[in-house]
Amino acid sequence: MENDKKERIIEVSDIPPKPKNGDTFLIKASGISSSTHGIFKYPCKFIPHIPRWFIKNYASKSTKKYGVLDPFMGSGTTLVEASILGYPSYGVDIDPLSKLLSAVKTTPLSSKEFSIINDFISSYHISTKNSHKFKSKCSLYIPDKDLITYWFSESNINDLALIRFLIHENFDKFKNKKVKNFLEIVLSSIIRKVSKADNQSPKPYISTKIKKDHVVVFDEFLKNLLKYIDAVKDFSENHKSEVKIIGFDARKIDSKSLVSGKVNLAMTSPPYINAFDYVRSLKLENFWLDGFDKKKLDALYDHQIGSEKVKTLNEVPVYGLGELDEVLSKIYSLDKKRSWVTFKYFQAMKENLESVYDCLQTGGFYCVVVGNSRIRGFEVDTASILLKIAKDVGYKKRLNFSYIIRNRYLRIPRSGRGGFIPKDYILVLEK
Ligand SMILES: C[S@@+](CC[C@H](N)C(=O)[O-])C[C@H]1O[C@@H](n2cnc3c(N)ncnc32)[C@H](O)[C@@H]1O
Repeated sequence: MENDKKERIIEVSDIPPKPKNGDTFLIKASGISSSTHGIFKYPCKFIPHIPRWFIKNYASKSTKKYGVLDPFMGSGTTLVEASILGYPSYGVDIDPLSKLLSAVKTTPLSSKEFSIINDFISSYHISTKNSHKFKSKCSLYIPDKDLITYWFSESNINDLALIRFLIHENFDKFKNKKVKNFLEIVLSSIIRKVSKADNQSPKPYISTKIKKDHVVVFDEFLKNLLKYIDAVKDFSENHKSEVKIIGFDARKIDSKSLVSGKVNLAMTSPPYINAFDYVRSLKLENFWLDGFDKKKLDALYDHQIGSEKVKTLNEVPVYGLGELDEVLSKIYSLDKKRSWVTFKYFQAMKENLESVYDCLQTGGFYCVVVGNSRIRGFEVDTASILLKIAKDVGYKKRLNFSYIIRNRYLRIPRSGRGGFIPKDYILVLEK
């Protein structure tokens, strides 16, 4: 699967129904923000065309009953597509924001609920014009100051706390959790912009050189609120099947929530090795979610796959797979820690492949989208290594092709440690 210099790149607007092994596509996709896909800029999400292609081409009668699973659901792209195509689906992710976001993107709202939101907007206008009146009530809605003081100005903290207070106050009045979740996601969507952190950088940091434009918290919230109402209206009109968020860790999927403990299809894009730290990247948003604290943040770091938080031993890690062990030993010669990070990544991915295998019906398919990485200058052929591990677990390879990553927001380029990953591989495995 190494880069072939003479490789032919096929330009398409969508993935054809029957790609051949080894094909490489340049997908000039449109409609990537259709329905609820445009809600919240979640890092490294894949374009909806990928799960849509997989579900349309691999679904069978059984999929209608048993459904589709995404064990690293992120922003819920697979779940939105499954629901619009008429298949029940299940999602797993460690990140609290991912869970809330996926739930909101896949929860239809009724006309009564939209009118509750309109009432909220009316009271919002009045309350934000008289924000001083709510000062004492709002202090309850300010997260742990130790976590946030560095990242937000005092006036933005107060404005965000007022919005949070209004969300809670209205929720208590209307007792509608769906509306509350929706409003919380609107709030999450403005957090980075109204913080002092750079808007573009994956990991939050405060630039001393670039001054951020001033953003009015109340206006920004209202802008996204109106935009997201349209998105959820579209989903509410076009969704066909139910979506369930079922668990926390992709290595230990809780099959009790599945029909007879099984699904018919699984589709995912797992994290990359040492390339993107979701927990750190989304921590500002998580700070503003109910019940989030430092303890929860640390627990997330412990569970995140592909993260740097691994124990480094004074010996070369050995996985027992020639191609992988060779690259682990090369990385170890330059950087012990990164070789252990790489080793732990493949161990974790094996556990995920096993867990999904247990949840799949015989004859069901698991589609995994991954990119290769360069670690300390050494090419790690993640796709080919995962295929070998998958075969050991019991899967049969059905298809393997790739596509060039065009939208730099969806797949953030990695330089240095993680290496730049120009294309993603789509692996289709059968149980
Ligand atoms: C590449 S993103 C998935 C993006 C998704 N395909 C989308 O379109 O939004 C990978 C996800 O894996 C999650 N993750 C990392 N470690 C995990 C674990 N142990 N179990 C479940 N999810 C995990 C991260 O929180 C992140 O949301």
